[in-house]
Amino acid sequence: MKKAAVIGAGTMGHGIAELFAMAGYEVALVDIAEEFLKRALQNIEWSLRKFAEKGQLKESVEAVLGRIKPIVNDICRAVEGAEIMVEAVVEDLDTKRRVFAEADRCAPPSAILATNTSSLPITEISEAVKPERRPLVVGMHFFNPPPLMPLVEIIRGRYTSDDAVKRTAEYAAQLGKQTVIVNKDVPGFIANRILARINDAACWTVARGEANVVAVDSALMYKLGFPMGAFLLLDYVGIDVACFIGDAMVKRGFKTHPCALISEKCASKKFGVKTGEGFYKYPA
Ligand SMILES: NC(=O)c1ccc[n+]([C@@H]2O[C@H](COP(=O)([O-])OP(=O)(O)OC[C@H]3O[C@@H](n4cnc5c(N)ncnc54)[C@H](O)[C@@H]3O)[C@@H](O)[C@H]2O)c1
Repeated sequence: MKKAAVIGAGTMGHGIAELFAMAGYEVALVDIAEEFLKRALQNIEWSLRKFAEKGQLKESVEAVLGRIKPIVNDICRAVEGAEIMVEAVVEDLDTKRRVFAEADRCAPPSAILATNTSSLPITEISEAVKPERRPLVVGMHFFNPPPLMPLVEIIRGRYTSDDAVKRTAEYAAQLGKQTVIVNKDVPGFIANRILARINDAACWTVARGEANVVAVDSALMYKLGFPMGAFLLLDYVGIDVACFIGDAMVKRGFKTHPCALISEKCASKKFGVKTGEGFYKYPA
């Protein structure tokens, strides 16, 4: 059976594992503690049942779930025999580099080692593996939640080969995704880079008193065709996540005019849906 490894079973990792399992792969899913894997499997089962209810699952929920093997803290065992590894651990360069070094040691020489990082340079991650593996290190950036969001950005680092880009795009297509190729690992890649500019403009429009949050979101939805306004999307993504990604992009040379409305929400821990309040209120 085709085999994939997903490292990190959090918000993104469990969704990516679900996609590979739905596409017929045996999936080794790794996290640092049993409890995280248990929660991930519960979330995957819930999502698979939703697909089944809508008639969008070709097999039984149990058959798909049965292909996912939870593994505590053993990256080496997880990547053994895998064609592709997707890393989705916390957004920290040292942690990711440790994962890649370990995966490099144990994965088949032809295996693709992909990272789902939102903001870290693929090149710096790839320098954690042996020079002969670096052509196979690539960015594979899913959006949240991976089972529902159609786009995957495939990002080239300095050493990534054309063949690795092509193969990674083929894997994403097998997962039912639309792919775009990003030729340089610039901060924010394509979607987050442009979104950061939109958020910035939306935020300043409100900060300068030109319009309120609802008016800006309405203009984006009813004229510009956005499925959600900028502020509502920030509430759903998590304003803490947006601040974190924004800071990482700025640190790596992305020029912006920091807008206090967003940083104030971060400072006061009003992160959006997850805390019950962000730019809008979400009563329990
Ligand atoms: N959340 C999003 O909207 C989103 C979207 C696109 C990309 N990303 C990126 O995906 C990655 C994961 O983000 P997330 O939101 O799923 O984070 P998360 O915190 O929900 O999950 C990360 C998981 O990795 C585990 N982990 C940490 N160190 C590990 C290790 N050494 N080995 C195995 N597991 C380890 C943690 O225990 C946790 O369960 C990040 O790089 C993030 O930037 C996130």
